[in-house]
Amino acid sequence: MAKGRIGLDIGSTAVRAAELSAGTQPTVVRAAQGPLPPSAVENGEVRDPAAVSDALRELWRRGGFSSGQVWLGVGNQRVIVREIALPFLPEKELKASLSLQVQEFIPMPVDEAVLDYDPIGEFEQDDRKMLRMLLVAAQRAMVDQVVQAVSGAGLEPMGLDLIPFALVRAVGTPDVSMDLEEGGEEAIIDIGAHVTNIVVHDRGDTRFVRILPSGGRDVTTAIARAAGVDDAVAERLKRGDEVDAPVAEGPEPTDGSEGAAAPEAGAPPRLQQVRQVALQRAAAFVDEIRSSLEFYTAQAREARIARVLVTGGGSKLEGLIDLMRQRIPVPVDPGRVFLHVPSELAESEEAMAAAEPFFAVAVGLAIPGRA
Ligand SMILES: Nc1ncnc2c1ncn2[C@@H]1O[C@H](COP(=O)(O)OP(=O)(O)OP(=O)(O)O)[C@@H](O)[C@H]1O
Ligand SMILES: [Mg+2]
Repeated sequence: MAKGRIGLDIGSTAVRAAELSAGTQPTVVRAAQGPLPPSAVENGEVRDPAAVSDALRELWRRGGFSSGQVWLGVGNQRVIVREIALPFLPEKELKASLSLQVQEFIPMPVDEAVLDYDPIGEFEQDDRKMLRMLLVAAQRAMVDQVVQAVSGAGLEPMGLDLIPFALVRAVGTPDVSMDLEEGGEEAIIDIGAHVTNIVVHDRGDTRFVRILPSGGRDVTTAIARAAGVDDAVAERLKRGDEVDAPVAEGPEPTDGSEGAAAPEAGAPPRLQQVRQVALQRAAAFVDEIRSSLEFYTAQAREARIARVLVTGGGSKLEGLIDLMRQRIPVPVDPGRVFLHVPSELAESEEAMAAAEPFFAVAVGLAIPGRA
């Protein structure tokens, strides 16, 4: 029997895996996630492979996955994605000679990089056939840490892909003009804790990638500062969880010392303040995203983003999608991975909806990309 394929997403706050069944209509048959201790992964980079291995072992104990063969993703500041053009070569020859051709385009020695590319199109230049592509260069030392963490858990890395490419497969609309009056490209934005991956695609073909070193953590940090609480408390406040002392009522932030009793019913002033701080920070962050999208439309001829889809835990911040709708001039919607890819998970609809934003990357990694 053909085996399914498992995508493994090692995020800054959690590890997540999703298994797709084999066959003509791949279906998500297993998905599980587990937390990572703080600092095991930072800014999307594995810092403590042993701690990540522990979390992965636990994930496999609970997840019931059919094998230990995993497809991995990277998306962080140690990955460079550049649009370049090279003289056309058949795929095999291009792959073999890529490292000899691209040093001038990347700010790290090619022998310290893992290289890949995604073709965008062909064109003629001085009677010569050229290939336009997105060149991907990932720092080898960063990739090695990922591989070490995975191997340390007894799992077998089968492949490595750019997280933005996986997002296109996970939630990308095959043709936006089928859904919207005006066609164009679609932007998919995965808002994590430390990293935000932005990808623009046109019917599945990637046009633009930008990886921002920001995400939900920045909102948490802003809340922690404004409310004078530690990050763990700020995190819960951000999610609108009930938080006991030291989150006191009162107009002034405390310094974290013992506060009054937990807020009474109704929106206590402190919680309103928290929301305001969160949305203020989020607005600045949304403007960063908008700038990236504007950069894309300014530099590419005939570029037009028709829609934005959002995934990632950071997109769960209350009010964030509305804020994006206010500040980005095209329709903004949640990317629905479990609708896009059929799923047979034995979970309630509610649990699925809550988990959905977290699984786009893992599911996308489980979907085969370009051979
Ligand atoms: N209900 C919620 N409300 C607001 N924010 C939330 C909620 N749930 C999760 N988050 C935020 O989502 C972020 C985590 O998102 P996600 O799990 O996608 O990131 P990650 O994959 O672990 O990290 P990264 O992609 O940055 O490496 C955190 O900043 C967390 O605070
Ligand atoms: Mg992530």
